[in-house]
Amino acid sequence: MKGVKNHFQEEAEIFDGLIRTLIPHYQEMIEALTMILPFHSQEHAKILDLGCGTGNVSLAIKKRFPQVEITCLDLAENMIQNTRYKLAEYSDVNYLVGDLRDLEAVAEYDAVVSSLAIHHLSRQEQRALYTQIYTALKEGGVFYNADNLLSSSEHLNQLYLKKWKEFMFQHHTPEEVETVWLARHHQEDNPQPLQDHLNWLKEAGFQNLDVVWKHYYFGVYGGRK
Ligand SMILES: C[S@@+](CC[C@H](N)C(=O)[O-])C[C@H]1O[C@@H](n2cnc3c(N)ncnc32)[C@H](O)[C@@H]1O
Repeated sequence: MKGVKNHFQEEAEIFDGLIRTLIPHYQEMIEALTMILPFHSQEHAKILDLGCGTGNVSLAIKKRFPQVEITCLDLAENMIQNTRYKLAEYSDVNYLVGDLRDLEAVAEYDAVVSSLAIHHLSRQEQRALYTQIYTALKEGGVFYNADNLLSSSEHLNQLYLKKWKEFMFQHHTPEEVETVWLARHHQEDNPQPLQDHLNWLKEAGFQNLDVVWKHYYFGVYGGRK
């Protein structure tokens, strides 16, 4: 996890440009994650953004639901710093430097969201996190995550990788994709099968599970407490 933190500390300034060259349909995925929140436009809901990075998800949420109170949590101070700048015009935003694995809230949030962060945890930590998120939600609260998602079939996993590489090749040389981005992916990321995520969410108590948006390796899924 130290490597993950250091990388994001260093990359905070260039993150917003870079992420759009590495994740296909990044903006559309964030929009999907945002628009599914079951609030009316002026609702005073409490939301937690786990692994907020430079605040792109929180910003999209604030634009759609200006009255919500958001807590932005991230391991890397530099990422949080960028979130602060980006959301400076909004009140009701809390900034926390911390590890999402230490989440101890009880019935505090109407929604917990996350994007491209949970795959950094080990398989067991991802499973355990769903119970922590369930506890952190109020009754009827929702959790949605946008992330890398493996298939349960090796054939599809190969296809997902091929499609992902094709996208990155549009912005980076094949050598950079292999030696930097895929090398880092193999070293620091632990994507898990979508089916396992859904099983773990069910096991934690979530209902109304659904996959809201999907593009090969990437998807948005979640459910309601
Ligand atoms: C790829 S970035 C995604 C940022 C943002 N959610 C987005 O979609 O633009 C992953 C973020 O997760 C954070 N992160 C990774 N592991 C974390 C952990 N255990 N606790 C809190 N934040 C974590 C990193 O510091 C980084 O800012």
